[in-house]
Amino acid sequence: MKKIKVLNLYAGIGGNRKLWKNVDVTAVENNQEIANIYKDFFPDDEVIVTDAHQFLLEHFKEFDFIWSSPPCPSHSKFRFMTTKMEHPSQKRPIIYPNMALYQEIILLKHYFKGKWVVENVRSYYDPLIEPQICSRHYFWSNFKIKNIDFKQPIKKHDTASSIKDNFDLSKYKIKHRKDTLLRNCVLPELGLHIFNSAYKETEQKLLSVSPTSQTSPNGDFSNEKEHNISLKESSEEDSQISSNDETSLNNNIIRNG
Ligand SMILES: C[S@@+](CC[C@H](N)C(=O)[O-])C[C@H]1O[C@@H](n2cnc3c(N)ncnc32)[C@H](O)[C@@H]1O
Repeated sequence: MKKIKVLNLYAGIGGNRKLWKNVDVTAVENNQEIANIYKDFFPDDEVIVTDAHQFLLEHFKEFDFIWSSPPCPSHSKFRFMTTKMEHPSQKRPIIYPNMALYQEIILLKHYFKGKWVVENVRSYYDPLIEPQICSRHYFWSNFKIKNIDFKQPIKKHDTASSIKDNFDLSKYKIKHRKDTLLRNCVLPELGLHIFNSAYKETEQKLLSVSPTSQTSPNGDFSNEKEHNISLKESSEEDSQISSNDETSLNNNIIRNG
């Protein structure tokens, strides 16, 4: 089976990517130290150390699926609150929200023919383009995402500990704070849920062609609880997907068939 060609932008150490299978991944991360750790965890992925925003513009046509996690601090409720702190040591300067986030959404929505998702935190302002919400994140995408609560801890410290089991950073001597690297990760289970959501439609079509087939486009739905949602339910959800998706869906069926 042909692997799905994935672009994983602002890759970090690969929280969202951890559980994806049968994929051919190009990861882009601009920090060499973080990119080295990513490469250790995912030796088969191609890791490129460069600006993800520019890379997207120049290469988006080369991929089947694009995930982007642009930096979130300038949008986050947490940082917004710190701009209002009284104490000078806690107070942070006011900055512009980084519009790379919306630039990428608009570009992907209007030019990209594959499946795509842009992930970010819930913002302190009303989002300029309506996102879907899943767990504690905003997602903009061209496929339907069911909101599952992955019980992500609210406290930052607890988030880092919950992801620690997936990424053992003990051997690394690095400048970066390890808890920050862990905290920046999307939960692997959530990353898998989103990825599988993109291909649920394709799976349905394949099943309708071959009712006995148990194989999904990424080859491994069997371990994922989301896959157990009835096909009827997902078919109702999927009917809301735009006609633009029909083209990429058909492409994926051909590619994976
Ligand atoms: C929130 S983290 C991504 C987490 C990742 N999605 C995961 O689930 O593990 C954002 C990452 O983007 C990187 N980054 C920030 N600006 C970047 C840029 N312009 N180009 C590439 N990477 C960038 C940061 O170093 C950081 O590792």
